[in-house]
Amino acid sequence: MTDVLTDRGDAEQLRSRIAAELERTRARTLLLTEAVDDADLVRQHSPLMSPLVWDLAHVGNQEELWLVRDVGGREPVRCDIDDLYDAFKQPRRDRPSLPLLPPAEARAYLATVREKVHDLLDRVAFDSRRLVADGFAFGMIVQHEQQHDETMLATHQLRAGPAVLHAPPPPEPAARVAGEVLVPAGPFVMGTDTDPWALDNERPAHRVQLPAYFIDAAPVTNGAYRDFIAAGGYDDPRWWSEPGWRHRQEVGLSAPMHWRPDGDGWAYQRFGRWDRVRDDEPVVHVCFHEAQAYAAWAGKRLPTEAEWEKAARWDPATGRSRRYPWGDDEPTSAHANLGQRHLRPAPVGAYPAGASPLGVHQLIGDIWEWTATLFRGYPGFAAFPYREYSEVFFGDDYQVLRGGSFGTDGAACRGTFRNWDYPIRRQIFSGFRCARDARPEQAHR
Ligand code: AVJ
Ligand code: FE
Repeated sequence: MTDVLTDRGDAEQLRSRIAAELERTRARTLLLTEAVDDADLVRQHSPLMSPLVWDLAHVGNQEELWLVRDVGGREPVRCDIDDLYDAFKQPRRDRPSLPLLPPAEARAYLATVREKVHDLLDRVAFDSRRLVADGFAFGMIVQHEQQHDETMLATHQLRAGPAVLHAPPPPEPAARVAGEVLVPAGPFVMGTDTDPWALDNERPAHRVQLPAYFIDAAPVTNGAYRDFIAAGGYDDPRWWSEPGWRHRQEVGLSAPMHWRPDGDGWAYQRFGRWDRVRDDEPVVHVCFHEAQAYAAWAGKRLPTEAEWEKAARWDPATGRSRRYPWGDDEPTSAHANLGQRHLRPAPVGAYPAGASPLGVHQLIGDIWEWTATLFRGYPGFAAFPYREYSEVFFGDDYQVLRGGSFGTDGAACRGTFRNWDYPIRRQIFSGFRCARDARPEQAHR
């Protein structure tokens, strides 16, 4: 897409694309919140999460703030609830005790806001104002709702009781994928200036020079992770960082979240069902410290964020950075396990069409991948449109995760997309892959 859409036909196309994305996203929000009863919607399933009904109305409130009031310049739908749904004013653990909109009122609020947004979308000029050029604010709101949908999906995973969500299993492996891929030394372009719906932390594009390195062709699997457990990896401080070991001791980590011993193996609980752990599936629900300890035990390390992105985007034939490992086209169900189409990561080798030119698989989808990098702004970063999306999280507290999970929508995931969380968190759909330095004589193979 170009910077500014002036052509009438292009603007109409953008309008209908935005309308379709808004509706597709809302269908997911409604599915996640209609799968349980009202009592369940207002309950807090974990102190780490909001009651689902908070996410629901928060999604509507952000849409009102940015689209109805800011872009549209319209009268507020409700200005009495802004504070209740301000994520900074209300810590997650306190949200259940707030005077939240009851489920029926929250749903009616979302519908009213959405009606105004469709009305506004019919008239808006996608002129050169940065908030509306290429429909950015609409894209930001679609991504925001999708991000909360993934958060609500993580809440479903923490919820006790029988299964209420259903989805077919992901595809079986179609290719044998193992080992490592050598990424040669050299520069690549990290981040983007041109992706119209890229968020502020993905910008600006900048050249990064990297020495040669190896990166795993696939995420670390349950089978490999079980070997780490069986080898006593959780009990050997040699593999853990100092804060990692302290945390491991404090909370008694001994296996990924949602695992329990099952005969001579392991079983995991997912969305209300118990299942034997499948060896060839990427491990999920591990924290950064567990990922880092596994990598050390395996004689490797976690990739830096730049190493992850070069493996995902760099095309050795042209030197260009792609939007996705497979090219610039939006993800389809053949490329990656995204969008809650399946309720678990796919086995390694299930998405040969999604591999990068160098042969790195399943970078997009399946599991968020922990990287060794702290969340900071790129050189030349400028907060847009608000500091609270990214900038207030920059510093030493958050690790970057890349690539998206089975619960991430394609609209909120690309080769440049950056996620972040505390290194102790594992209720998110997080896994990892390993990397290591290449010795100089291997660098130009
Ligand atoms: C990018 C997933 C870390 O959920 O905290 C949602 C996204 N920002 N509402 C989060 C977000 C504001 C954010 N993450
Ligand atoms: Fe939010």
